[in-house]
Amino acid sequence: MANQEDIFKNIVSHAKEYGFVFQSSEIYDGLSAVYDYAQYGVELKKNIREYWWKSMVQYHENIVGIDAAIFMHPTTWKASGHVDAFNDPLIDNRDSKKRYRADVLVEDHLAKIEGKINKEVEKAAKRFGEAFDEAQFRATNTRVVEYQTKSDEIRKRFFSALDRGDLEEVRQVIIDCEIVCPISGTRNWTEVRQFNLMFSTAMGSVSEDASTIYLRPETAQGIFVNYLNVQKTGRMKIPFGIAQTGKAFRNEIVARQFIFRMREFEQMEMQFFVRPGTEMEWYNYWKETRMKWHHSLGMPVEKYRFHDHDKLAHYANAAADIEFEFPFGFKELEGIHSRTDFDLSAHQKYSGKKLQYFDPELNESYVPYVVETSIGLDRMFLAIFSNAYTEEKLEDGSERVVLKIPAMLAPVKAAILPLVAKDGLPEKGREIMEMLKYDYMCQYEEKDSIGRRYRRQDAIGTPYCITVDHQTTVDNTVTIRDRDTMEQHRVAIVDLPSIIGSKLRPRS
Ligand code: GAP
Repeated sequence: MANQEDIFKNIVSHAKEYGFVFQSSEIYDGLSAVYDYAQYGVELKKNIREYWWKSMVQYHENIVGIDAAIFMHPTTWKASGHVDAFNDPLIDNRDSKKRYRADVLVEDHLAKIEGKINKEVEKAAKRFGEAFDEAQFRATNTRVVEYQTKSDEIRKRFFSALDRGDLEEVRQVIIDCEIVCPISGTRNWTEVRQFNLMFSTAMGSVSEDASTIYLRPETAQGIFVNYLNVQKTGRMKIPFGIAQTGKAFRNEIVARQFIFRMREFEQMEMQFFVRPGTEMEWYNYWKETRMKWHHSLGMPVEKYRFHDHDKLAHYANAAADIEFEFPFGFKELEGIHSRTDFDLSAHQKYSGKKLQYFDPELNESYVPYVVETSIGLDRMFLAIFSNAYTEEKLEDGSERVVLKIPAMLAPVKAAILPLVAKDGLPEKGREIMEMLKYDYMCQYEEKDSIGRRYRRQDAIGTPYCITVDHQTTVDNTVTIRDRDTMEQHRVAIVDLPSIIGSKLRPRS
């Protein structure tokens, strides 16, 4: 059986081979951590974005959307804390000349210790069988307790040094843990430096007049600076939300795992403005609501979990990730943050403009508190794509690769396939295409054997293949083939829109 690493490699190749994701500027050997979406990828991405937008804006009467510019006044990023604090601690290995994020080196080291613990647990579970009590074993087994204590100590020491900005101590933890460079295998480390993740550019035609501006590292600030405009012009009453999707840019140093961590990516964010003191209620509401959204796609619920943050960002009083089990393990997919009044108060201070809300029920003005939901569109794409990728052995001994993408998000909803390209079947097929194409993304194909055409549609995740055969010309029926079960049924052409439509709704 293929291991997870091989499966992930197959997923990445499939994304390229079938027109979902290409490396950016590939003819020039590519640009690291930057990707282009191809003909099917762009459809899947658009469908995810649209479903998110509908769930947030269309289904909530008190949430509206905006589309703010990527370029913003430079003071925005001073106020938000990004100029001073949006940093990664970097360290170089002098022998390999490779650069690493210090926190990633330590996290990888901790993951190795965790791996050793899990091995002990697995061994014991086998030894004790039914009678195995995992919690008790973890709490009492000398070796496991030793590993756990060591791991907890490293974590505490490392993150408290990072929090204090004590970069010498950050380096010392790496030395003391005897972490080696994965390339050179040596411990010849440089000092640790803070590296700001924002890309900057210059605005203005003459360089002397130019002012440094940043490519936004999150879409959220475009919402905060427009908060009052939207509240006033939309006559919004608290609690209310502002949603936005759009590009964000981060100069990520450790760019790994395909589209999981990119330098140019897209976020789907919503800032929900609430009365101070009610933020925890709304934080819990949005945690639950967002998890329900994920479950509504019908992907396995056991692949999702919450990870509550112990270490909070400077603006938050509570934060959790929704993690998804990617082929390389459970990783952050979405963040839900209670951001207090940090951002609005900071913009109020730096701009000198009041960003308050007059609450008629309390008869007082205040700076609202904010609960944010923030999900990476590319990461959601990867979650769906990697979960959908299935290599199947069929009963007749043949194999197929099928993308079991939730039908409502599939790039192509139906393929119309005349059995042969003669006897009036193409004309019938074209009639069906005309009937369906205004409501559903469809594809018409008459080249190659029907079996090969089914495989091609399976590989891009088309939920329905509609085959036009000789009987169609007699009684206006076709066969409709289900992508996942491969079962075929004969149905009337007039029923096709409702049959297709019935599968394209989220699960409640
Ligand atoms: N406004 C809050 C914010 O930006 P974040 O946790 O830094 O919070 C939110 O990012 C989400 O954006 C993440 O959960 C992830 O899905 C996505 N994301 C962040 N950095 C990314 C990157 N370099 N590549 C792809 N997606 C990224």
